[in-house]
Amino acid sequence: MSAIIEVKDLRLSIPAQGGPARPVDGVSFSLSPGECVGLVGESGSGKSLTSQTLIGLTREIPGVKIEGSVRWQPEGEQSRELLKMSERELTSVRGGEIGMVFQDPLSCLNPLFRVDYQIGEVLARHCGLKGQAAFERTVELLDSVGVPQPEQRARQYPHQLSGGLRQRVILAMTLAGEPRMLIADEPTTALDVTVQAQILRELGKLRRERGLAILFITHDLGVVAQVCDRVMVMYAGRIVEQAPVKEFFDNPRHPYSRGLLESLPTLSGDGSKLTSIPGSPPQPGSFPPGCRFCPRCDSAIAPCQTQYPPHFGDNRHSAACWLLEDSPVASSQPGKQ
Ligand SMILES: Nc1ncnc2c1ncn2[C@@H]1O[C@H](COP(=O)(O)OP(=O)(O)OP(=O)(O)O)[C@@H](O)[C@H]1O
Ligand SMILES: [Mg+2]
Repeated sequence: MSAIIEVKDLRLSIPAQGGPARPVDGVSFSLSPGECVGLVGESGSGKSLTSQTLIGLTREIPGVKIEGSVRWQPEGEQSRELLKMSERELTSVRGGEIGMVFQDPLSCLNPLFRVDYQIGEVLARHCGLKGQAAFERTVELLDSVGVPQPEQRARQYPHQLSGGLRQRVILAMTLAGEPRMLIADEPTTALDVTVQAQILRELGKLRRERGLAILFITHDLGVVAQVCDRVMVMYAGRIVEQAPVKEFFDNPRHPYSRGLLESLPTLSGDGSKLTSIPGSPPQPGSFPPGCRFCPRCDSAIAPCQTQYPPHFGDNRHSAACWLLEDSPVASSQPGKQ
């Protein structure tokens, strides 16, 4: 199936003391309709900035320079370059074709208006629904994302809702526009597991029924295993490994990915000690030369110190690590990064 979004060599440079910071530094990936791809990595690796840049939300950063290409190509339509769109065009893409649930949900709700009014605005704009029909659809949407007593909640103001409820209202509002792609940045972090499961089920249904593509940003590898088809691991502004989910958990190739997986508790409770990766990721203004994970890597070899590794492997599963250069996976075409 052809991609709905294709990101090539995306770069973001932000002026900083001592030279520009490059929190997103050559990111390439694509998503197909109905596919859910997880974007994981430690705090500060550039996940949010990557996703925000796709839909123009980092344009406002003073002095920012954005390079690369983000092609948006819904089925049956001509492809469009999102990075070159005017602010007006982008606003319409954001509200409708591409929905985004932010890490900080508070900033997306207007404190002055009731929930039904805010969701109603989206329904009027995108689905032509008004009055009672819009209210009924609002209640249906709230119910679908696990808001209890949706009729009462619809009539409330944001300050009357808990953080977890607000997060669900934002999701309902985003889904009201019937997007073709959803960017979900830590959408379930503030929620208890039952609600989280309900939201994940609802998103699964939208994928199957409407071909909704999802870029799912999370720290929770358990959720990734449960809902994603593929996973991309980000480290210091770059994707260092990408693979189908099962293959990633069975056979992670990058030492950083292995470190992330070793930090996970196992369900079997086999008593093996949890490890966390020693050290911390570099700041975007001071990436080391060579592989950016090298200073924390137990397996580093000479080239890791000086040269950034290309992706070895194939389009299904690849990782940017010099250790893979002589392994059988390298015999297939290395992915570009
Ligand atoms: N507006 C900004 N201006 C300058 N630097 C920024 C800006 N926003 C984020 N950064 C920096 O860019 C890096 C990547 O930030 P980003 O928010 O994308 O990380 P993240 O992977 O989403 O982390 P988390 O998991 O904590 O949400 C961080 O070092 C952050 O401090
Ligand atoms: Mg983030």
